[in-house]
Amino acid sequence: LLQPVILSGGSGTRLWPLSREKHPKQLLALVGEDTMLQATAGRMRQFGGDLPVAPDMIVVCNEEYRFITAEQLRAVGFANSTLLLEPAGRNTAPALTLAALSATDHQQDAVLLVMPADHVIANTEGFHQAIQHGLPQALDGAMVTFGVVPDRPETGYGYIHVGETLSGSPVRALQAFVEKPALETAQQYLAGGAHLWNSGIFMMRASTWLAAIGHFNPAMLAACQQSLQQAKVDCDFVRVDKTAFLACPSDSIDYAVMEKLPKAPELGISGCVVPFDAGWSDVGAWDAVWQVSDKDGDGNAVQGDVMMEDSRNCLVVSDSRLVACLGLEDVIVVETPDAVLVTTKRNTQDIKRIVSRLREGN
Ligand code: GDD
Ligand code: MG
Repeated sequence: LLQPVILSGGSGTRLWPLSREKHPKQLLALVGEDTMLQATAGRMRQFGGDLPVAPDMIVVCNEEYRFITAEQLRAVGFANSTLLLEPAGRNTAPALTLAALSATDHQQDAVLLVMPADHVIANTEGFHQAIQHGLPQALDGAMVTFGVVPDRPETGYGYIHVGETLSGSPVRALQAFVEKPALETAQQYLAGGAHLWNSGIFMMRASTWLAAIGHFNPAMLAACQQSLQQAKVDCDFVRVDKTAFLACPSDSIDYAVMEKLPKAPELGISGCVVPFDAGWSDVGAWDAVWQVSDKDGDGNAVQGDVMMEDSRNCLVVSDSRLVACLGLEDVIVVETPDAVLVTTKRNTQDIKRIVSRLREGN
């Protein structure tokens, strides 16, 4: 069985003022009608590959968002999903460990397809193909990553040093993994042409992940086991034990396992990377929202009550009022009842400066 696991723990501060602590990015409909969580859940629906897909998702999220998360899933036909509820975030490695333990409880060693809840993948068919290509490796006990050809020296991503081609498939060996490198290193990787971006999607057997995390961070595995053993289960909500989970070390899949894997041959788990060319975007900031949105003949992407005159390549999102733009280019306007953002596409990475000023109260 192929078991989708959705990691839904982010806050997405660079998408202020639409994304806030109360409305994290994955619960918003930034592109199209579905929220990003709903689009993620629906993505595996028509998968025609070699393994049947589990009809219900495993979703790991903060307990504060349990009702809206369950409601959004129900609305798109995933009412029976298991929601593993964290009392606080401990980053992605514990979240995946909880999911792997929970999956092992229910089925025999499923292949987990680990998906961030807040990414856009424009080409579903290409996504399915990539998964199909990685399946033999995952079934064989490898850790499968999905690599995107980089087009800028992004320092917020992981970089995969691609090794030899595995016979008879487009899949490549994973030679090295570097999470969030310094700018200079990222520039070298980009120029060298031997690196792909890690998309943040992973696929492996539950047992493969548990063996890896047990090897690299046994304290994390133990804390997650305890959190689940003492969990309070009500319907499809699994509230992991607060004390046990708060004591869990915090780390990401990338740092905790992926970077270390190629340096630990004694573990006997290999990594591989499937070339991933399916219109992937992690929609990290407003310029990326413009990029992935449908645009009119002038290159404008608009949502809500918006009027455009003599403007080009803008993104205008209106939540509550009419927004009229005249003579603008490459501008971003995001209107909400209590805050309006006006910026340019060049500046969208720096929205966190506004958010941190708001947090500090000035
Ligand atoms: N349940 C849960 N709990 N989910 C979490 C937590 C947590 O504590 N922390 C993060 N997540 C979810 C986020 O909601 C997101 O969907 C996903 O896990 C990845 O976390 P990010 O915090 O967005 O990671 P990142 O963007 O810094 O880096 C990852 O993604 C990049 C591509 O977008 C890494 O995998 C990089 O290597 C990769 O390039
Ligand atoms: Mg991210």
